[in-house]
This record gives sequence, C-alpha cells and structure tokens, in this order.
Amino acid sequence: MQSIKVGLIGFGTVGSGTLHVLQRNQAEIRGRAGRGIEIAMIAARNAERAKTIQAQVGASIPVTADANELVNRADIDIVVELIGGMEPAKSLVLQAIANGKHVVTANKALLAVHGTEIFEAARAKGVVVAYEAAVAGGIPIIKALREGLAANRIQWLAGIINGTTNFILSEMRGKGLDFGTVLAEAQRLGYAEADPTFDIEGVDAAHKLTLMSAIAFGVPVQFDKAHIEGISKLQAADIKYAEQLGYRIKLLGVTRRRENGIELRVHPTLIPSTRLIANVEGAMNAVVVNGDAVGSTLFYGKGAGSEPTASAVVADLVDVTRLATADPDHRVPYLAFQPDAITNTPVLPI
Ligand code: HSE
Repeated sequence: MQSIKVGLIGFGTVGSGTLHVLQRNQAEIRGRAGRGIEIAMIAARNAERAKTIQAQVGASIPVTADANELVNRADIDIVVELIGGMEPAKSLVLQAIANGKHVVTANKALLAVHGTEIFEAARAKGVVVAYEAAVAGGIPIIKALREGLAANRIQWLAGIINGTTNFILSEMRGKGLDFGTVLAEAQRLGYAEADPTFDIEGVDAAHKLTLMSAIAFGVPVQFDKAHIEGISKLQAADIKYAEQLGYRIKLLGVTRRRENGIELRVHPTLIPSTRLIANVEGAMNAVVVNGDAVGSTLFYGKGAGSEPTASAVVADLVDVTRLATADPDHRVPYLAFQPDAITNTPVLPI
C-alpha cells in the first residue's frame, strides 16, 4: 500500500525530532501503522536550517515558507501543526480540516481555548484531530485515558504537567538556587514556553489539565473556568520550611468528579515527601489517574523536549494512519469528549 502523506508545519525542536524519529524507526513504524508514513512537505520559516537538519538524516523534503500551500496540497492526508499559539495555528488547523485532512497537533493552548470549535469542525468533516503531544510530552496519557482506562469511571486525576515549574522547584530546593537563575536555565534547555509566564503562572498546566479533564469526564474543554495559581509568589523560604515539615511543594493540576460538578484547578500543593509523586524531580512529568475499577495508576516520563514530544507526535501519526486506512463507515469516532455525555457538568468554584 502507498505511504500516507504528511505535511509538517513548524520545524523547530519538536518538528525536527519528528523527522529524526520517523527516519530512524521507519521499519517499526511501518509495521505498526500498516503502511509507510512519509513527510511530503515541510512549512518552516527558516528554509536553510530545515535543509541542514534534513541533510543530517539523508532526507530531502520540499520546504515552503507558506503553510497555506501545504494545507491546500491535495495529496497530503495528515497535517501536523507544531507552531503553537493561536494564530495562524487556528486558521491553518481549521483550513486543513475543511480540506478533509486529519490533524495532529501539540498545541495545548489552541485546543484548551478553541477545542470545542475545532473538534466539532473535525467531527462534521469526518476527520480526526489527535493531540497526544499536547499533554505531558512523551507520556501517552491521552491514549491511557481514551483507551487503556476506557473501562473505568474516572474519579480524579492529579499531575505534575509542567516541566519548567517542576525543574524550577526542584533546583530551588536541591541546589538552593534562586527563581530567576533556574528559569533562565529552563529557557536555555528549551523546556519553557515562548512566553514563560504561561509556565510559571500555571496557564500551561491548566491548558493540559483542561484537555485531560474533557476526556476523563466526558465534558467540553472549559479552560476559562479553571482555577489557576502559579509558582511566581513562592520563595526559597517556603520550600525550605515545607521540607522541614516533611513536605515538598509541587505545582499540581487536579481535576476531580464531585456530585454537582467537576473541579479543575492548578496550584502549588504541599505533598508529603514520602509520596512517589513528591519525588518527581527536574523537568519530568507525572500523572496519577484514579478509576473505579483500576484504582490509582501512575504515569511518569519526560514532559518536554525534542524526541520525547516527537514520540507522541509519531504515535498519533500511527494511530491516525490506521484510522485513515480503515473503511470510513466503520471508523471508531476519535473524540475529545462524548457530546452526548455529561456536557452540562459545571466546573465548581474553588
Ligand atoms: N513548557 C512546557 C513545560 C513544555 O515546561 O512543560 C511542554 O509542554
């Protein structure tokens, strides 16, 4: 069977990681997807850099500066959006969907804020929007919630889902470094968002939490209702005193089912230092999911970075390739939430 054709918009850290992983593991990926996955075009601001990276892996994929050209190319089946932010990402994703293309994206901010519109457009067009890479980098938490834990009524989930803030808190505690120094290091290492206030004020974590909550509880994405508190007001003394009392401070995202609605909150949390999740250090992420059948399960791994995030992008490409290859009349819907489920469930005030 012919390879499925992919257009890659954005060729930064994650985009180049995606090319590397696809090239290196192509035999395994072909086996799992049932056919080859071929990047047919790249949209990148810096064509020279894109060509240099391609040369490292022996690829010579056409590069365009105009992402619309890629989105409108008839032979492309899947568009991968890796530019982040709202515009032009939103217009490109909606145009790709209107053109009947499946979309894979790592854009948590876009989906947390405009997810309802985007998922509805995809549903109406019979295409898929997959976003494993949007939450917790390489940890397959979206697939775990959608598939691995599909038998469960989820009661709650709680996670360290922002690597930058976890890195800052770990370094402040372990090395006694000040906030600004560690933030600069997180930026240098490529963990932080383009606007690092999204990390330190808890917004990035709330984007990811909103997406997980939608799947876990079958509710629409409701980012605007999340309670959000970051770590910028924490001082070294808070971390030190917490430690003396036997606690670690972590920025947690928590979503929980209550009788009259769900909780959706991000804030610094004191966790007894004997707990596994309290010992998640550096830029790592961890999510605990509690389901009625399974009890508590812990997912741990790299929440950011080139190949960890590319691992999630490529997993989505494999998934979407299988779906796209299946008979359209017998496709299992790939939904962020079930529209006929508890759509009116309110988010409770904190
Ligand atoms: N800025 C994010 C983080 C990147 O620090 O976790 C991955 O989403």
